[in-house]
Amino acid sequence: MVSLTARTPAKLILSGEHAVVYGQPAIAMAVDRYTTTTTTWRDSPHIHFKLADLKYAKTITLQTLQRLTLQLQTDYRAFLNGTGSIRDVLKRPFELLQYSVSTLIERLNVQLPKGVEIAVQSNIPLGCGMGSSAAAVISTLSAFSNFLKLDWQRDELLTLGKEIENLQHGKSSGLDLQLVTYGGCVRFQNGVVETRSAPQMPMYIINTGKPESSTGECVAHAATILARDTIMLQDFAAVTEAVDAAINSNDLVALQQAIRINHALLQNLGVVPDRVSNLINDLENNNFAAKICGAGAIRGDSAGIVMVVADEDPTPIVQKHGLSVETVQVDQNGTTIL
Ligand code: MEV
Repeated sequence: MVSLTARTPAKLILSGEHAVVYGQPAIAMAVDRYTTTTTTWRDSPHIHFKLADLKYAKTITLQTLQRLTLQLQTDYRAFLNGTGSIRDVLKRPFELLQYSVSTLIERLNVQLPKGVEIAVQSNIPLGCGMGSSAAAVISTLSAFSNFLKLDWQRDELLTLGKEIENLQHGKSSGLDLQLVTYGGCVRFQNGVVETRSAPQMPMYIINTGKPESSTGECVAHAATILARDTIMLQDFAAVTEAVDAAINSNDLVALQQAIRINHALLQNLGVVPDRVSNLINDLENNNFAAKICGAGAIRGDSAGIVMVVADEDPTPIVQKHGLSVETVQVDQNGTTIL
């Protein structure tokens, strides 16, 4: 085999982000934006990274890759024992994929017969709450392990992916990885997955721009509140159950009501910047319901993707804020080999 390509979808969290890290339920679905990773044998005995969206192309020796991995592990341990910040772990976006490849090679304990090129590209907006990192990790692990003809099952990819994503999220719930690996719409709690039918109501997304803060920073900020505020955790859980019931009974009004409560909780958590709150207020004043659907932001005025649930197109209101609207469909396939 000369080359192999894996394709992995994006995700949207309909309810329960952040609280899901503390064992509360979340409802989320995989959606039709994709990252593809193509692995190809190369004659020179190194790893050649071509990460189109990060505008990064570099050839690295296995030794350099191992050194980077050890450094990342040391920095992550410092974060875990409270002597370092999550910002000091992954310092540049391409390190996540270098770490993924290095960890996979180390875990497989294989001697590569040749060099390998790893080319990744994506139409998932990067760092905007649609699971771009999870998709990049899983498509890379999947492409590389299948390329080496390993009989790896999806749950093995998921387990390794979670270890890797911890470096990005600080502490990952595993929800993003679950969705991008298996696809579909799910209720997720403590790693336990129940399949749900995809919502029938139309959903729109608005990209408010890449947040200045990373997912790891937002999760660390949320920890300062959620690790001790059990009432807030219960409120998140209750609203997620309401979202679940509303989708199940195809009740748009009930779903919108729950989404508005969810947005208010996320505001209280401090992960919705003012500019994005203003947009959502304007939508709410016009009978729409909207919320961020990833980690949000603790700095700057962008919070990635905002999801709108409505039976009509919110474009006229959204355009007043200088933004545009897109539609999304559920992806039922998860990661596939093309
Ligand atoms: C990020 O997409 C979702 C968070 O809940 C973190 C996680 O679940 O690991 C903020």
